[in-house]
Amino acid sequence: MGVSGASGTPYAAAVLRGLLEAGESVDLIVSRASRLTLLDETGISFRDAHWRDDLRSWLAMGADGKPDSFEARVDDVRYWPAGDLAAGPSSGSYPARGMLIVPASTACVAGVAVGLSKDLLQRTASVTLKERRPLVVSVRETPLNGQTLRHLVTLDDAGASVVPASPAFYAGATHIQDLVDFVAGRVLDAAGVPHALYRRWKGGLGEARTAES
Ligand SMILES: Cc1cc2nc3c(=O)[nH]c(=O)nc-3n(C[C@H](O)[C@H](O)[C@H](O)COP(=O)(O)O)c2cc1C
Repeated sequence: MGVSGASGTPYAAAVLRGLLEAGESVDLIVSRASRLTLLDETGISFRDAHWRDDLRSWLAMGADGKPDSFEARVDDVRYWPAGDLAAGPSSGSYPARGMLIVPASTACVAGVAVGLSKDLLQRTASVTLKERRPLVVSVRETPLNGQTLRHLVTLDDAGASVVPASPAFYAGATHIQDLVDFVAGRVLDAAGVPHALYRRWKGGLGEARTAES
């Protein structure tokens, strides 16, 4: 999983919690720019030397009153500094099932679309594509310019799933976390990871609301 420097670090935490709850072990790459968004959005300074502590604090946010349940699961995360281009995930021979980029900045989208590999996150995404493994890109920007739209088409053509960080309101959302979990759930859907992060649409306009009120 890669976290790039777009707004939306709560989406990243929700996806990571979902992966860990599903029993996945996760290789985590946090871009340099995403440390700024994380600091801005959560007050957490993400430090390479203290990544476990900082990740625990991050995962606890929005964990719905059960932050302790992620204490142990942090052991299922392997953290790789974004500047370490010799890290395991930079090679196609490193065992990985696929990659999720949440949130994906337009800079990251551009870098992956043109194969820039400017850091470990982008290199791992390029490796994921060349190895024909699933790549899910949750872009977060608005409005989108033509350049980014073309880059997204390039990624789609290359086999990636583009899952915009675009929350929906039909799943009974009443809190911000519901909207966050909806996006995280759609990202996990695209990766085929089971979860119960949002209420799925079953048809019947207004029925769910009537039944619950
Ligand atoms: C507080 C903050 C919020 C940002 N939000 C976005 C955003 O929502 N979408 C985006 O594409 N870039 C956003 N950026 C700009 C990216 O961080 C910037 O393009 C950076 O180069 C991305 O690098 P990365 O892809 O290596 O993480 C934001 C930057 C800051 C400091």
